[in-house]
Amino acid sequence: MAHPLSRLLSRRMCQQWTPFQKTPGSVSRALRSPIQKPAGRRAYATGPNPNPGQNPLKIWPFIAITLLGTGSYILMVRSRTDMAPPHEQIAAPKKSTPTFSPADVTVLFVLGGPGAGKGTQCANLVRDYHFTHLSAGDLLRAEQDREGSEFGTLIKEYIRDGKIVPMEVTVQLLENAMTETLEKSQGGKGKFLIDGFPRQMDQALKFEESVCPARFVLFFDCPEQEMQRRLLDRGKTSGRSDDNAESIKKRFKTFVETSMPVVDYFDGQGRVVKVVATKTPEQVYQETKERLEAKLGKNF
Ligand code: C5P
Ligand code: MG
Repeated sequence: MAHPLSRLLSRRMCQQWTPFQKTPGSVSRALRSPIQKPAGRRAYATGPNPNPGQNPLKIWPFIAITLLGTGSYILMVRSRTDMAPPHEQIAAPKKSTPTFSPADVTVLFVLGGPGAGKGTQCANLVRDYHFTHLSAGDLLRAEQDREGSEFGTLIKEYIRDGKIVPMEVTVQLLENAMTETLEKSQGGKGKFLIDGFPRQMDQALKFEESVCPARFVLFFDCPEQEMQRRLLDRGKTSGRSDDNAESIKKRFKTFVETSMPVVDYFDGQGRVVKVVATKTPEQVYQETKERLEAKLGKNF
């Protein structure tokens, strides 16, 4: 008769390895997935023993192999869990509905290359239209500097290299900030400018699925040469670790390869309001207001 552990072991091996090989990012979650009971007894485990007279000692090699297999399995699981980077160990609860309804909460994503003027224009809109401005980059920098943050070092490295921080971190920071704002407003309706987000498709999908669907993307379109000039100028006083020539180059690359597809995705759904952002901040703001009024009405 087969040892019950050997049945469990083979099922677990299948469950663990299949998702790991397909999607390395879901390792730790896959490892934590509950073990299902076998649907039915295996044919070889049922019925009478066809060789009743056989020496029971013959099952010992099989038990030994099973125990060996169990040991290796435990070692393998441990090493996989240790290897998973910290962000993969965030137990993001799977939600079927977003936390906030677009009926109560207006979200505008604000996108554009680094140095396109997103922050400057958001500040104008906050002043005149009472939006709450949440900059994903600012939230990440605050988390990076927060004492005891589990993700501080990881965020620091990603920002310096102009790479996109794993989305679980950024989406959670945004959701926390939105919740805090809405709690303070005591039942009031929220109007958010979410600046510098989503920078990668997975961020867009995750946020709209689990936090709140956005109305549209406000996109500031600016040529690279102009953005570079602005960033190098800002770098003289900003104190930012990524406002230097080397990081700027990497940030442009990430923008073109990773963030522009997000703009294209929303554009394909008719959800992009584009503003040319080459002129002075005042001129760009004038155009921004006109475009938003056309989309949302005079008192947006
Ligand atoms: O928007 P900002 O220029 O302040 O972003 C700075 C850096 O923060 C980005 O280059 C990137 O490393 C990180 N970031 C991110 N995901 C976002 C926004 C910013 O990973 N949605
Ligand atoms: Mg900014």
